[in-house]
Amino acid sequence: MLNWDDPLANPSPLPQQGSLLDDMADETAPAAGRQAPSYDGCARGGATGLEDLEMGAGRLRVDDKRIINCHADLNQLVPFKYDWAWQKYLDGCANHWMPQEINMNADIALWKDPQGLSEDERTIIKRNLGFFSTADSLVANNLVLAVYRHITNPECRQYLLRQAFEEALHTHAYQYVVESLGLDQGEIFNMYREVPAVARKAEWALPFTQYLSDPHFHTGTPENDRHLLRELVAFYVIFEGIFFYVGFVQVLSMGRRNKMTGTAEQFQYILRDESMHMNFGIDVINQIKIENSHLWTEAFKQELVTMIRDAVALESQYAQDTMPRGVLGLNAPMFEGYLRFIANRRCAQIGLPEQYPGASNPFPWMSEVLDLKKEKNFFETRVTEYQTGGALSWD
Ligand SMILES: [Fe+2]
Ligand SMILES: [Fe+2]
Repeated sequence: MLNWDDPLANPSPLPQQGSLLDDMADETAPAAGRQAPSYDGCARGGATGLEDLEMGAGRLRVDDKRIINCHADLNQLVPFKYDWAWQKYLDGCANHWMPQEINMNADIALWKDPQGLSEDERTIIKRNLGFFSTADSLVANNLVLAVYRHITNPECRQYLLRQAFEEALHTHAYQYVVESLGLDQGEIFNMYREVPAVARKAEWALPFTQYLSDPHFHTGTPENDRHLLRELVAFYVIFEGIFFYVGFVQVLSMGRRNKMTGTAEQFQYILRDESMHMNFGIDVINQIKIENSHLWTEAFKQELVTMIRDAVALESQYAQDTMPRGVLGLNAPMFEGYLRFIANRRCAQIGLPEQYPGASNPFPWMSEVLDLKKEKNFFETRVTEYQTGGALSWD
């Protein structure tokens, strides 16, 4: 028998737009007005893939597929509707890598040498390990607990499953670096709760995923479909597309100067994965727009622009906090220019007006890092486009 005092059985009504933080803070709100739980997975939102079988139902047609709010069977991968999603799944698999394949010996020797690195350089490594080690877990949890349920298309879900594993590899990579260098695990993994510069970005993103991960949240109304779009912009375009980039430039700059080359190589592989994650998210956002053009109002676009501008300010602050003095030929104002440049690109990719006219890229080598086709990587350790997975032999 259900206990109606049990918060799981007796959920709060969904917070209204604009009152999310207030509602989340008020966990002791009285039960008045609460709704009974609903198990009608299909009645709102879309199918989950876990519904009862419909024996003898008509066969799936490609035209039945929709990226959100789809009620067709989600357990049938084919026929494909979104070839771009399947292609990204294949590309992700072709780029498979493992953190322990990367040689960390030079990093270990340099880190242990008291003269090996300046204090500012050590701060850059530690702060970025602190940020990324928990940020990638947050992204993974967001994928599996918030985003996945609402994307009602099997080929997109196939990519989401691949992405979730890649996020696990990224967290593994940071743990592997921390372990290799003999860093204080507690210091690194608690940084997002102890160091404001690291905490701010996670704090900014959490309300978006908390909203969507509410088990009683369903898409299917314009307001809730916009919540999903807002969350996809927050995570794919901003978190993975802006908040990761000061750290990427900082650590890859060390590698270009022949310092911490193993760590930099880990970050290079991660950057390649992240670039694909962001591009997948942008494709999803644009597909939702195509199928639901009524969501893309001027007011909503303005709201997203404000989010992106706030994110640029926040990430510029991260550059200041992690690099109060110039180091490695870098300084905080260069990052502000870079963030404006990439924010313009992100805006253009999802059909928003560019916000920073004339912004230019002070780190053109970053695009070379992303262009890894059949070229030896810039640390000259190995070819970065490779296929892994030992071939099975049945002899
Ligand atoms: Fe990641
Ligand atoms: Fe990612």
